[in-house]
Amino acid sequence: MDSLKRTKVVDALNATAGQKILVKGWVRTRRGNKSVGFIALNDGSTIKNIQIVVDFEKIPEDSIKTITTGACIAAEGELVESQGKGQAVEILAEKIEIYGTADPETYPLQKKGHSMEYLREIAHLRPRTNTFGAVLRIRHNMAYAIHTYFHEHGYYYFHTPIITASDCEGAGQMFQVTTKNLYDLKKDENGSIDYRDDFFGKQASLTVSGQLEGELGATALGAIYTFGPTFRAENSNTPRHLAEFWMIEPEIAFMDKTELMDLEEDFVKFCVRWALDHCADDLEFLNNMIDKGLIERLKSVVDTEFVRLPYTEGINILQDAIKKGKKFEFPCNWGDDLSSEHERYLVEEHFKRPVIMTDYPREIKAFYMKINEDGKTVQGTDVLFPQIGEIIGGSVREEDYDKLMKEIEVRNIPMKDMWWYLDTRRYGSCPHAGFGLGFERLMLFVTGMQNIRDVIPFPRTPNNAEF
Ligand code: 4AD
Ligand code: MG
Repeated sequence: MDSLKRTKVVDALNATAGQKILVKGWVRTRRGNKSVGFIALNDGSTIKNIQIVVDFEKIPEDSIKTITTGACIAAEGELVESQGKGQAVEILAEKIEIYGTADPETYPLQKKGHSMEYLREIAHLRPRTNTFGAVLRIRHNMAYAIHTYFHEHGYYYFHTPIITASDCEGAGQMFQVTTKNLYDLKKDENGSIDYRDDFFGKQASLTVSGQLEGELGATALGAIYTFGPTFRAENSNTPRHLAEFWMIEPEIAFMDKTELMDLEEDFVKFCVRWALDHCADDLEFLNNMIDKGLIERLKSVVDTEFVRLPYTEGINILQDAIKKGKKFEFPCNWGDDLSSEHERYLVEEHFKRPVIMTDYPREIKAFYMKINEDGKTVQGTDVLFPQIGEIIGGSVREEDYDKLMKEIEVRNIPMKDMWWYLDTRRYGSCPHAGFGLGFERLMLFVTGMQNIRDVIPFPRTPNNAEF
């Protein structure tokens, strides 16, 4: 059978009729009547299936009895123009080989229309569904778009460590990494654990952000980006938080706040446009099945200018809304961290466009952000999106050694872990800026999926590390 080279389904569907073809894939459905069987075959190369027509006079019905939903087969035959509706071409089977059957009594993906919750319980098999096939192909395309964007704009892909001894965001949400025997932990007279005999000779964790090391790259190579997994032990069970997520973090020397906002806007629009240009079939499927407004929303983001809004003005708008009767669950006075209901009000109801919020109160942001002349606000530049809320967190960095040192002291950040970072401000310090885009938040926006657990193959959340 393998004398013929395998054709992917995506190519077979676009090939001209009249040639011999060999396809391999997983059976989505099998139906038929007494004289002929129809197998819908999918190999992951496209959302579309190819139809295999089995004439029982040529291939006895008995020999394909075990070809049920989920089975893996190879089918060879002539590609012909389809008699039926729904496809231009189909294959008239001459030979069929069964690689693996899937017992219909136990195979979990029998029916269509399983709930997202159920599919999470069978995350090992859900990539075989139409929805997850579409999401995962788009995920690949988004990763490719991101590398393309930065490569074409002269950024270097810079690999920052996953194991680290510093807490970039200072939020204490780190997963520890140790080879210590947890059944026999020795503590000193103060009740503290001595890490000197641990693997790294100090307390180590999984990184929450590659930014600090990214700044080392930017202040040498000019412009870098990271794209890797990050980890946060925040116990927030929301549709927008993962304990393990992927982050893209560009960091650029000599960039100011306006240029940073320009970059954020240009970059996100590039990614969304890429999806529209390269993932049309999958987006159309998701638009039909998951979110009827998806494609329209993607197009509108590409075409509209983002609002640029200082935090203080944002608070005024929210306060006005409250005066006019709008109810929020959480308070939003000057100095409060905005919650996603506030962000979404501004984006979805007030402006009806993405918003880049700037100049946040110093206390609610990380230590490294550049302090404005008012001494009260910092040059943060978060991007807020419809449906999602915060999709990007960014800022101009404080390049002044003394000012940065003061922030580190005020916040009790352990100095012994920061000496190397501070050296960027001691030797050839320069203005620079950067941001972090949550890859799965971008994926939520681009796919219209409702829960962040459904845009990554194997989500990691509190109480869930299965698969
Ligand atoms: O706003 P964050 O915490 O910023 C940083 O980590 C900076 N060091 C980035 C930088 O300037 N280089 O996180 C950045 C983005 C958020 O805007 C959000 O999109 C995403 O990362 N994010 C999460 N995504 C999924 N699950 C979580 N638990 C996330 N926490 C943050
Ligand atoms: Mg943030």
